[in-house]
Amino acid sequence: MKKLKIGIIGLGFIGPQHIDGLRRVPGVEVAAVCDRDTDILKTVQTHYDVPMSCTDWRELIADPALDVIHNCTPHAMHDEINRAAILAGKHIYCEKPLSNSAAQARAIWQLAVEKGVAHGLNHQYRMNAPVQEMKARLQNGLAGRPLLAYGQYLQESASQATDWSSRMENTGIARTINDIGIHWLDTACCVLGQPVVSVMADLTIHHPVRTDAQGRQHTMDTEDTALILMRFADGMPGSLVVSKAANGHKNDLQLAVECENYSMEWSQENPDRFTAGIKGVGTETVYMNPCTCQMETRPYITTPMGHVMGWCDALHNALERYYGSIFSNSYKTGKQPYATFEDGFKGMAFVEACIRSHQLRSWVEVEQP
Ligand SMILES: NC(=O)c1ccc[n+]([C@@H]2O[C@H](COP(=O)([O-])OP(=O)(O)OC[C@H]3O[C@@H](n4cnc5c(N)ncnc54)[C@H](O)[C@@H]3O)[C@@H](O)[C@H]2O)c1
Repeated sequence: MKKLKIGIIGLGFIGPQHIDGLRRVPGVEVAAVCDRDTDILKTVQTHYDVPMSCTDWRELIADPALDVIHNCTPHAMHDEINRAAILAGKHIYCEKPLSNSAAQARAIWQLAVEKGVAHGLNHQYRMNAPVQEMKARLQNGLAGRPLLAYGQYLQESASQATDWSSRMENTGIARTINDIGIHWLDTACCVLGQPVVSVMADLTIHHPVRTDAQGRQHTMDTEDTALILMRFADGMPGSLVVSKAANGHKNDLQLAVECENYSMEWSQENPDRFTAGIKGVGTETVYMNPCTCQMETRPYITTPMGHVMGWCDALHNALERYYGSIFSNSYKTGKQPYATFEDGFKGMAFVEACIRSHQLRSWVEVEQP
C-alpha cells in the first residue's frame, strides 16, 4: 500500500513531537517540513532526515505529493493555513486552539466537512488510557451517575512580572483559557460524553505590565488566571481553576469526576493511572492493565503496568486513531475518538463564553454546534 505523505508546518516545540509520534504510526511518512526560521528548519530536517523542506508554507501546501498537512504553527496562523490546506484537498491535523473565534472555527470546520477531508485537532490528553478508562466506566454504568466534575490546569510560566515571552502576544481574545483551559475542557467533555452549556468565569491579569530580559515593557491584555464555574448539558455542575501563575506546577492538568458509586481522579503528571475513591473503604490506584480494564480502553494501553505511558504516548494514540480513520475511510462518519474541528469549535465557543461572562459578571450560555 502507498504510504501517506505528510508535510509539517511549524517546527518549534510541538512540530518535532508530531514527527516523533508519526514514526510510530504504520503507513505514513513525513515527506516535507516547513518553518520560516531557517536554522530550526535545517536542524529538524537533518535530525529526522526529511527529504523536502521550505520556508514558505504555501509552497508546502501546493506540493501535489503531500496527502496530509500538520499545522504546528502558533495560534494566529491556524486559520489561514488550515483553509489553504483544505482548499488544496489535503487532510489536516492542526494544533489547538483551532481558530481565533467561534465563528471562524465553525467556518473552518464546515469547510473541512464540505471538502471531505479528515480534520483532527491535537487535544491529545483525552487519548491517555486512564482518561479512556474513566470514560468507559461511566458509559458502561460501573461508576454510576456522575454528580460533579472539577479540576485544574496549572502551569508556572507567568508567575513573575519579569516572565515575558513572544508567545504571550497574538493569543487572540484569551491566553490561558485558550492555551490550556480548552485542553481540560476537551478531556472533561470526552470523559463525560456531554458538552458544557453555560459558564460563570472570573479572569485575572496578575501583572498588567511585564518586563522582558532587555528591560522593555509589555502591556498585558489577556488573563493569567481564570476561575470558571460551569454546567454540563444534563445539569451537572463543574469547576475549573486554570492558571499560568502557579509556581511548582509544571503541566498540572487534573480531572476529578464524583459519581454515585465511586469517584475517579486523573492527574496528567501521573498519566498511566487514576484513583478511584470508594465510599467506606478508601482510595484505590488503578493501573492500566489490558486484562482488567474495559474493552474500549485496551487499544490505548501500549506498555505493561508500571512502564509509564505518558504525554508522548497520548499524542501517538491520537495520531494512530486519526490515520486509522483515513485508512479505513471512517473519518467521513463524523464521530471520531480523536478531537476534530467540531471540538475545536466547542473550545472556541467555551473561551468566548468565559470572556463574556467575565465582562458581564454573570452566567453565560455556551454556543453549541
Ligand atoms: N497539544 C499540546 O499539548 C501543545 C503543546 C504545545 C503547543 N501546542 C500548540 O502548538 C502550536 C505551536 O506551539 P509551539 O509551542 O510549538 O510554538 P513554537 O513557537 O515553539 O513553534 C512555532 C514554530 O512555528 C514557526 N512559524 C511561525 N510562523 C510561521 C510561518 N508563517 N511559516 C512557517 N513557520 C512559522 C516558528 O518559526 C516556530 O518554529 C500552538 O498553537 C500551541 O498552542 C500544543
